[in-house]
Amino acid sequence: MTTTITITGAGGQIGYALLFRIAAGDLLGPEEKVRLRLLEIPQGLGAAEGAALELQDGAFGLLEHVEVTDDAAVGFDGTDLALLVGARPRGPGMERADLLAANGGIFGPQGAAIAANAASGVRVTVVGNPANTNALIAAASADGVPAERFTALTRLDENRARAQLAQTLGVPVHTVRRVPIWGNHSATQFPDISHATVGGKPVGEALEQIVGDVPTWLDETFIPRVAKRGAEIIEVRGSSSVASAASATIDHVRDWVQGTDDWTSAGVVSHGEYGVPEGLISSFPVRSVDGEWQIVEGLELSDWARSRVDASVAELLQERETVQALGLL
Ligand code: NAD
Ligand code: LMR
Repeated sequence: MTTTITITGAGGQIGYALLFRIAAGDLLGPEEKVRLRLLEIPQGLGAAEGAALELQDGAFGLLEHVEVTDDAAVGFDGTDLALLVGARPRGPGMERADLLAANGGIFGPQGAAIAANAASGVRVTVVGNPANTNALIAAASADGVPAERFTALTRLDENRARAQLAQTLGVPVHTVRRVPIWGNHSATQFPDISHATVGGKPVGEALEQIVGDVPTWLDETFIPRVAKRGAEIIEVRGSSSVASAASATIDHVRDWVQGTDDWTSAGVVSHGEYGVPEGLISSFPVRSVDGEWQIVEGLELSDWARSRVDASVAELLQERETVQALGLL
């Protein structure tokens, strides 16, 4: 079988980190062939064409075809998986929402082009920031494509949260599970350890022994560290995360296609779960079952957790109002 995958912004940093992992089979496994469509704007075509030459030189057995284009109709033609990466990154001192005016306009036309050209079962993952609201814009412009097929990447935040927790506990990161992200891919996000397990056991007691007052550690250390990790990376390396973002994108799409054996996190459309207003693309604890994300329902939220979720959702509502005022929605 062959899967057609479109990567927008394929000439950019994350695009470059993604392409070779996809071609190597990290996304869909060692049996599935891939056909890549690299969609760029005219200024990015040279870099994408260069990447296509390098893909050829990689002699990847799974790579059937690579096409580089700046025409969205060609770029999304028959695509099964659309990775919407192409957008400006933020610089030092900016919040991701500051990118709305610059990037929001990209996602309406791309949503419409996906609806007109992609395969009927297309799955869309928005990476370009601000990812949740860009996904909302794309979904709203994609007549006939269910909103459930549009998702925003928050897996990088979850990976960061699990890694921070593992480091604090001095355990291997793969033993840390159930650390979902709620809300927006922004500084208001809520990385939630209430249900976290280490080696299958609740994390609470072991954590208390190490950090002492867990609520204070969460408020003052863990949550700000995870929620502001993107800004920390920008400060330290001089530009935003690339390889970790590409890796999280692979995790997200692989799990969506192949399924999960536990919870993870994704920005998905709300149907009112946990009081999140219907239609918003918010991060939730999710499972992937039969190729579809399902929100994990019935979890208890303490008053403190509830206020954290509400604050991030309030920001998503504000972003929606901003893009409505800009005429993008
Ligand atoms: P980059 O500047 O290196 O690359 C962006 C590429 O997108 C460029 O090649 C540009 O020509 C292209 N592009 C711009 N508009 C386009 C359009 N309309 N169609 C197709 N291509 C277009 O940036 P990057 O470091 O690759 O980051 C890309 C985006 O991903 C940024 O918005 C960044 O903030 C975001 N990001 C999100 C996460 C996340 O977890 N959600 C993580 C890291 C980065
Ligand atoms: C990240 O979380 O690393 C990305 O969203 C880039 C950014 O602007 O922080």
